[in-house]
Amino acid sequence: MTYGRRTSFPHGQDEKDQNFWKATAEGYDAWIASDFQDQYEVNWSILAKHVTPNSRLLDVGCGPGTLSIRLSRRCREVWGVDVTPEMIRVAEEKLACEPANVCFQEADACDLPFENHTFDTVISVNALQTMDRPETAISEMHRVLRPGGELLLITYCYGEATLAEHNALLDWAVQYDGRAMWHSFTFAQLDALLAAKGFEVAEAERIWDGPVVAFLRGKAINV
Ligand SMILES: C[S@@+](CC[C@H](N)C(=O)[O-])C[C@H]1O[C@@H](n2cnc3c(N)ncnc32)[C@H](O)[C@@H]1O
Repeated sequence: MTYGRRTSFPHGQDEKDQNFWKATAEGYDAWIASDFQDQYEVNWSILAKHVTPNSRLLDVGCGPGTLSIRLSRRCREVWGVDVTPEMIRVAEEKLACEPANVCFQEADACDLPFENHTFDTVISVNALQTMDRPETAISEMHRVLRPGGELLLITYCYGEATLAEHNALLDWAVQYDGRAMWHSFTFAQLDALLAAKGFEVAEAERIWDGPVVAFLRGKAINV
């Protein structure tokens, strides 16, 4: 299955995908704070509603770990994984100033280094559209969830974006070197992907417009 047009950001010919995220790692938090604070507060309020003090939570594609650390104040234990070592380094530096019940680890979402049924909750925020094999990543998220555990997925739907929204994304991306994947999911494709991978979709809504951002809450069944 393909998800609409896949955009490969320019510049890199033979670099691995994560080289793009390596270039953005240092300035990532400042960029989110200046351009996406409102959107991230919406993300936060949704995630916070669905975690409980006893949860063992995994954040897949955690980037520089800001959400993982914030969520750790509401959970028993948090693991954050990201394929880009520079993102993990920035995340770990934060723990030196603010020790938390969080562990960060470099890992590919398509090959998660955890036993089956390890987590109560898996989150993945603004990351699935950047993964080279999103279907495998969703299967892995399902595998590591306990039966009845929940996936909280927040993802851009560039399959529903306007030309102007695509152009704005490219304007941002061309500042950095390296190649990166950017899937153009539609809302309906995400819903179908979760169902196909053994999730019962308990909630699915558009939480942001221009471009559309989807929130899907899936319960792990068929385990
Ligand atoms: C836009 S950032 C989002 C970071 C963070 N979740 C947030 O909301 O701010 C996307 C992240 O996904 C990571 N990523 C891309 N492909 C991945 C993969 N296959 N496995 C794990 N992480 C991946 C990138 O390294 C990058 O840090």
